[in-house]
Amino acid sequence: MGLFWGDEGKAKAIDVLGEDASIVARYQGGANAGHTVHLGDEKYIFHQIPSGLLRENVSGVLGAGMVLDLPELVSEIYSLKKRGIDATSRILISPRAHLVTPLHKRIESIYEKLLGIGTTLRGIGPTYADKYTRLGIRLGELIYQKDINNKAQQLINTHRPIFEAAGETPPTSDEILGPLLETLPIISELVGDVSLFLTEAIHSGKSVLIEGAQGSMLDIDWGTYPFVTSSSTAFSGIASGLGIDPRLVSEVIGLVKAFTTRVGNGPLPTELFGEEVERLRGSGEHDWDEFGSTTGRPRRCGWLDGSVLATNCQRWGVDKLFVTKMDVLDGIENIKICNAYKKDGKVLCAYPSTAAMLDEIEPVYEELSGWSGRVSEASKFDELPENAKYYIKRIEQLAGCPVGWVSTGPHRKDTIIR
Ligand code: IMP
Repeated sequence: MGLFWGDEGKAKAIDVLGEDASIVARYQGGANAGHTVHLGDEKYIFHQIPSGLLRENVSGVLGAGMVLDLPELVSEIYSLKKRGIDATSRILISPRAHLVTPLHKRIESIYEKLLGIGTTLRGIGPTYADKYTRLGIRLGELIYQKDINNKAQQLINTHRPIFEAAGETPPTSDEILGPLLETLPIISELVGDVSLFLTEAIHSGKSVLIEGAQGSMLDIDWGTYPFVTSSSTAFSGIASGLGIDPRLVSEVIGLVKAFTTRVGNGPLPTELFGEEVERLRGSGEHDWDEFGSTTGRPRRCGWLDGSVLATNCQRWGVDKLFVTKMDVLDGIENIKICNAYKKDGKVLCAYPSTAAMLDEIEPVYEELSGWSGRVSEASKFDELPENAKYYIKRIEQLAGCPVGWVSTGPHRKDTIIR
């Protein structure tokens, strides 16, 4: 799982770790995620399908905690098929997952004008909201089709005032259901009990990799609310999202990018501006530059936030870290790490609980010397430049757990396993 605001490089990690996995499972989020994997000269971006499916022997699970955009899911399946990867026999989707409809995407556009969260406009927040008010439509209900028209009408009636206040006409029930029903010939073949499937797989000794989406700081409860996504992105989402005993999880792997980024609005205490941010973000000419893979928006960038790192490692019991994008720091003369937050001259013990409090803190930085060589030239940890090794060591000290992997480039082979 990502320990920051998403985009930590989870897909690369899943691709590397997937070598030993039989199943890769997603527990939350939906098409707001953009997980990029570079394989040879090819680039794959996954939104809803677990990225581990690139490996032929891996099955993918889409859990009950996800909100699914079915037409997008079908086009993701088709575009993989066109590239020679047939995922249909290897996907299992929970009938309990809620469905994003065209109504939800339109409501999100209206809310965005009011709230300015900077969401991905994939209908995520309004779909989760309807799940909790119990107005939502689950995949199983769409397949069963009993009362489905009434449910769509109920959605329209309840949300009509929002459309009217915005001077818009709500969608019709055909506009809501039509695109979803069209996907059923493909989707209904892929539905099953993910809880049973995963529990049996784990008990029979299979290795299951659980893939988080977004990051712990975007968690609906523990993130920088209200500038968060609407699901439980952190470890806490696993049990409810997949229907498994969380004590079966043997190892929690936290993803840390060598510097910190976020897309959308909200606090980013170590944010940089001007030339410094451009150095970290890149120009956009490379696939791996810091531009959103779902929305194309430039990401905000800053120095590594050790306060977020320490908080999330402790809070979620992270066992090991996977550090990504070390190569981006190559050649920077002086690198900073934030090792604490101060308010009114005092170091804070607990992570601030409100966005307003985060506006008032001051990050405390330590400065480390950079390195002149290229980290990508090292295939073993010992071969890294001394100062790069020290940087990793500081990450471990702040996190309180070891770094197991260091990614030094976009490809599978650019990974140092310790
Ligand atoms: P939503 O998930 O579309 O509702 O967006 C809420 C916030 O989460 C916005 O700041 C988004 O930019 C951010 N967000 C959502 N998904 C991702 C992701 O996969 N990576 C990074 N940020 C994300």
